Amino acid sequence: MAVAVLVRPGCGPDLPYFYEICLRTGDAGKDASGLFYDPLLLGQYYAAPYFFYDPSLCFVAEDKGIPQGYILAAQDTGAFNLWMEKVWLPPLRGRYPEPYPKERIKSPLEERLVSLLHRPPLSADLAPAWGSAYPAHLHIDMLPAIQGQGTGKALMRILLETLERRGCPGVHLGVSKANTRAIAFYGKRGFSVLQEHEQGLVLGKTLPEGA
Ligand SMILES: CC(C)(COP(=O)(O)OP(=O)(O)OC[C@H]1O[C@@H](n2cnc3c(N)ncnc32)[C@H](O)[C@@H]1OP(=O)(O)O)[C@@H](O)C(=O)NCCC(=O)NCCS
Repeated sequence: MAVAVLVRPGCGPDLPYFYEICLRTGDAGKDASGLFYDPLLLGQYYAAPYFFYDPSLCFVAEDKGIPQGYILAAQDTGAFNLWMEKVWLPPLRGRYPEPYPKERIKSPLEERLVSLLHRPPLSADLAPAWGSAYPAHLHIDMLPAIQGQGTGKALMRILLETLERRGCPGVHLGVSKANTRAIAFYGKRGFSVLQEHEQGLVLGKTLPEGA
């Protein structure tokens, strides 16, 4: 029998769970705990800033009172990137300086994260051709305990309905080619390939369409 997982808006006390969920799903959907000396690093880039930037686009799936999954988004990726560059990244650049001590790097993924913190996110004039049609972007991650029960579908639906109500024309996301499960999930939700990189895909979906 399916477990009753509650999907609700995110709130401040969810933040520590965002970091944990991000880490435990950060290796192409699998647990990345063994790949990081610093367990907070992934969430510093891929989870926490979204809550501070626009908490109204953060939704949580909780089971027995404990957050086990989230969907996080920014409606205008260009504006979000500017905010990252001006507000969020400067203190992190001080905390994770370059060159970063080798003894604090456990894997190529951790090394890549530190260098990401120092790279300015794409400015609006360098945005890809599809950027204006799919201005929002999202991240969705759930711990194994609640995967495969329709919760991802529910989180996606609530976020897309919210974006649609706000007049957002489309949304995109990045996914590793190794994450075949997530690619199948997005395909079923109506996402298609906008761009292909060596190791990943950018997928997009226009709104309105329903999830
Ligand atoms: C990918 C993920 C978000 C999917 O969420 P989920 O709750 O497990 O998926 P759901 O149970 O809501 O499934 C929704 C649909 O996707 C399908 N689906 C789920 N897993 C699938 C798989 N391995 N292969 C094919 N289809 C799959 C389901 O059959 C269902 O189809 P339906 O709409 O016809 O009913 C979730 O598994 C997850 O968080 N994984 C780890 C982190 C991750 O990879 N995040 C994405 C990073 S880009």
